[in-house]
Amino acid sequence: MSPPALTLQHVSEFAADVRESLTKPGQRELPSKYLYDEVGSALFEAICVLPEYGLTRADTRLLQQYSEEIVNRLPSPVRVAELGSGSGKKTRWILEALSRRQITYYYPIEISPHALAACEKELAHIDLVSVVGYEQPYLEGLRSVAEGRDERDHVLVLFLGSAIGNFDRDAGEEFLRQVRATLRPGDALLLGTDLEKPVDLQLLAYDDPAGVTAAFNLNLLARINRELGADFDLSCFRHEARWNYADRRIEMHLRSTCRQSVRIHSSNLRIVLDEDETIWTESSYKYRAEEIPEMAGRSGFRCQAQWIDEEWPFAQTLLIAE
Ligand code: AVJ
Repeated sequence: MSPPALTLQHVSEFAADVRESLTKPGQRELPSKYLYDEVGSALFEAICVLPEYGLTRADTRLLQQYSEEIVNRLPSPVRVAELGSGSGKKTRWILEALSRRQITYYYPIEISPHALAACEKELAHIDLVSVVGYEQPYLEGLRSVAEGRDERDHVLVLFLGSAIGNFDRDAGEEFLRQVRATLRPGDALLLGTDLEKPVDLQLLAYDDPAGVTAAFNLNLLARINRELGADFDLSCFRHEARWNYADRRIEMHLRSTCRQSVRIHSSNLRIVLDEDETIWTESSYKYRAEEIPEMAGRSGFRCQAQWIDEEWPFAQTLLIAE
């Protein structure tokens, strides 16, 4: 596959989002979804194998260990739609278990064309599994899958990797409600959620000693330089991970180490950052196991089962649309 074209629409949306979030009164921000260009997606894959970042291994372990049990609790026949598939590596277990019982349609939905291509390559060769990728935002892709199914088919939505943690709590619940609105009663949602754990472990997972997470965070500025004609000097920013006790979330920031001025050509913007001012680039909310069925209950799902990893507190929760 050739590299994705930077269409004018992509660039102008990106430029407008950057402008809006950087000029917010009070705390400056950048939207976390822009962390995942080709370099960012590769750095995220490296994060997933860091000893300090247990999240992906826990997610994968549960899927591998309980795939039969999960599949046995699903409606049948079922088509699988994954929101933000990434590389697709951990999805293999579910697809293999399902394909032992039926021909399986798998639809990864992913805004990163690099990740989507990697996922298609990773999972294309499982017997009796057919992969059709959608390069679309989550809900648009999901609507296409739900509307395109045969009458007798159910849908299983996979929302793994604690991607729900990027939403504020209220927005996360609202998102579940919107997912529910695309589904029919009896359809399923498998939700992977990172659970609260001791603060020192949590911080280390987002500030690893080898600096991979720092590179992932800083790459956002490098990407803005590349794609929007900006002049961020990366050597004048420092990666920072914080635990916000009140909101029970990890925050990633980029701290300006001096007073500096930055121009972002395509956003038609010049900003002055004070020494020690930060740009907030990501939130990762952490949950308690019992909060997940509660939140799902308020969004039109009932909890069918939950599995928790013993090494790294993380939950897979199987929800059924009511
Ligand atoms: C992919 C959003 C789940 O929040 O843990 C990893 C992204 N950021 N290290 C997370 C991330 C820093 C990750 N999610």
